[in-house]
Amino acid sequence: MNSELILSESVLKSNFEQLGPQSTIQRIFEQSCAQRGMNFPKIDNPRKIYWDADHYGLSGLKQFCVLSIDEKQKLLEALNEFNLHEACFVENLGYRFNAKMILHSKSLEERSMFANFAADEAAHLHSILPFTQGMAPLKIENQPMIHLLSQTIEESSAAPTSFLIQVILEGFGLAHYSTLGKNCLDDVLQKVIQKIVKDEAFHHAGGKAVFALRGINESETKELEDLIFQVTRLFCQWPHPTMRAFVKLGFDDPRFLRNLIEDLRPQEKSLLRIQYIQKLIDLLPAEKLNQLQNRGAFQIPDNEEILKSFLKSPINPAIGG
Ligand SMILES: [Fe+2]
Ligand SMILES: [Fe+2]
Repeated sequence: MNSELILSESVLKSNFEQLGPQSTIQRIFEQSCAQRGMNFPKIDNPRKIYWDADHYGLSGLKQFCVLSIDEKQKLLEALNEFNLHEACFVENLGYRFNAKMILHSKSLEERSMFANFAADEAAHLHSILPFTQGMAPLKIENQPMIHLLSQTIEESSAAPTSFLIQVILEGFGLAHYSTLGKNCLDDVLQKVIQKIVKDEAFHHAGGKAVFALRGINESETKELEDLIFQVTRLFCQWPHPTMRAFVKLGFDDPRFLRNLIEDLRPQEKSLLRIQYIQKLIDLLPAEKLNQLQNRGAFQIPDNEEILKSFLKSPINPAIGG
């Protein structure tokens, strides 16, 4: 797989071109959704903060407590914006994933299921978009997970793509969205997220059912192992958005970032994430799981590795940074 990720970036950028709310196509889309009983939220006074410091584990963190009120607000706004933008990009990738799977389906039932899931993802994106009003234009800052997903949809075979997106990511997304819903400060957004969680449970179940029916061959298994290896490494980089939010405020000294990582205690959270992923992928034969283990796929990075990967991660001006 190309580690330069150039294709993904250009695809991501062009794929978010919007025609605007007054466009005929947007109106037809909304009318057809309304016909099916789906209406998207209209937000007159969008908030900037939907999740507070507790949600991000910042309340007791000394680097957060010493900030001024204004700095705390800016830091939380950056993290909130990141969560909403990340959700929009993931939902947008969901369309493309399902479009690919419709083309690769081997039965009418599979094709119908993926077509229905594509409609769900469109509804999810348009339910979240109104909450991004007033925020910076949609962009994803240096988010390697989005690049990996985009590139997988573009380049990988159907079976490993479906396993990665539906079994792992959508399985993980269930826990992620459930927490976002539980901690959300806004009733309307909370309901939107609860609805997404219900749909995602079907998407995850659909991926498992396709895997049970079709299985994967030897070369696809090899592709899948590489994807799992990459995705588990990325799941252990979770403090990066918090670190980036501090850097945006001007706290970019490596010594400060080193202390920040230490106080965020990433190993505890990474271990939980890895254990959760291991449960999701235990559909694979034990021998494959052992191979992944031996390659270090489930190894938790130490603080220096987290800092190193943060400092060397490229920032592409085309998609933010
Ligand atoms: Fe979705
Ligand atoms: Fe989904």
